[in-house]
Amino acid sequence: MTVSDPVVEDVVATISRTATEIRQGLIGRRGTVDEENPSGETQAEADVWADELLSDRVAGIDGVGQYASEERADVVACGDDPATSSAYAVAVDPLDGSSNLKSNNAMGTIFGVYDAALPARGDTLVAAGYVLYGPITTLVLATDETVSEYELTGGERTLIERDVTLPAEPVVYGFGGRVPDWPDDFREYAREIESELKLRYGGALIGDVNQVLTYGGTFGYPALQSRPTGKLRLQFEGNPIGYVVERAGGRSSNGSQSLLTVDPDDLHDRTPVHVGNDDLIERLEAALA
Ligand code: AHG
Ligand code: MN
Ligand code: MN
Repeated sequence: MTVSDPVVEDVVATISRTATEIRQGLIGRRGTVDEENPSGETQAEADVWADELLSDRVAGIDGVGQYASEERADVVACGDDPATSSAYAVAVDPLDGSSNLKSNNAMGTIFGVYDAALPARGDTLVAAGYVLYGPITTLVLATDETVSEYELTGGERTLIERDVTLPAEPVVYGFGGRVPDWPDDFREYAREIESELKLRYGGALIGDVNQVLTYGGTFGYPALQSRPTGKLRLQFEGNPIGYVVERAGGRSSNGSQSLLTVDPDDLHDRTPVHVGNDDLIERLEAALA
């Protein structure tokens, strides 16, 4: 099933094809380079390589005016300015959860297609999604029409579910950061959730969010005492994931409002990220109020 917007379809097809190469190229790229990304984190060889592949391909798409990634300090201008034209801006996390490379656990590639110049609010997204490098390589794609899940083989995508929605009954939760570093109000909320749901935390946002999308529940990487804006990046992780979960009938929050309504200051802004079932996010925001 293709996407009605031809530029979005081209972006999704390009990322799907590139994801196949990324997965095959992880072998031999499990080390780190002695460079840091703009968030000050040591880069894995695979982070840099996946970003190179994606920037070459995505920046060459007609109708894409900007490419940005968490691995690059600045936006790459690659066509008409999305601020003054109908061109889109594509923001990617080329390899999410790259610390899982060493331990051979799930990772992902996250993308957001913004109808605005970057950095942009999440409510300017026209499409967002992620590739999950699990036992099977899958793609979850959200547009204003629906949320679909595909299996990726040989660069092609096969639709396996359309109208993906968050199950009404929550089952799993996952919270990032260290417990002693959680603010008291979040820790109280977390203790309640821990007594109700099953822990699923794998160290890659995409793997953990896919559990929530599949079984219902909530994922959070909260504001920490040591880092009040949390760890995850708004443009490359928070907005795309918030868009997917909200399109699937759930909610997103930075602790007080939908992630999609947060006005960004900088391309690499960090934000607390919470996504999941309506009432769980409701309870979170009440606990942090
Ligand atoms: P990335 O590899 O793109 O930097 O993302 C890692 C993020 C996210 O995937 C995950 O939820 C979080 O880091 C895990 O953080 P901790 O290692 O602190 O649990
Ligand atoms: Mn990430
Ligand atoms: Mn990453």
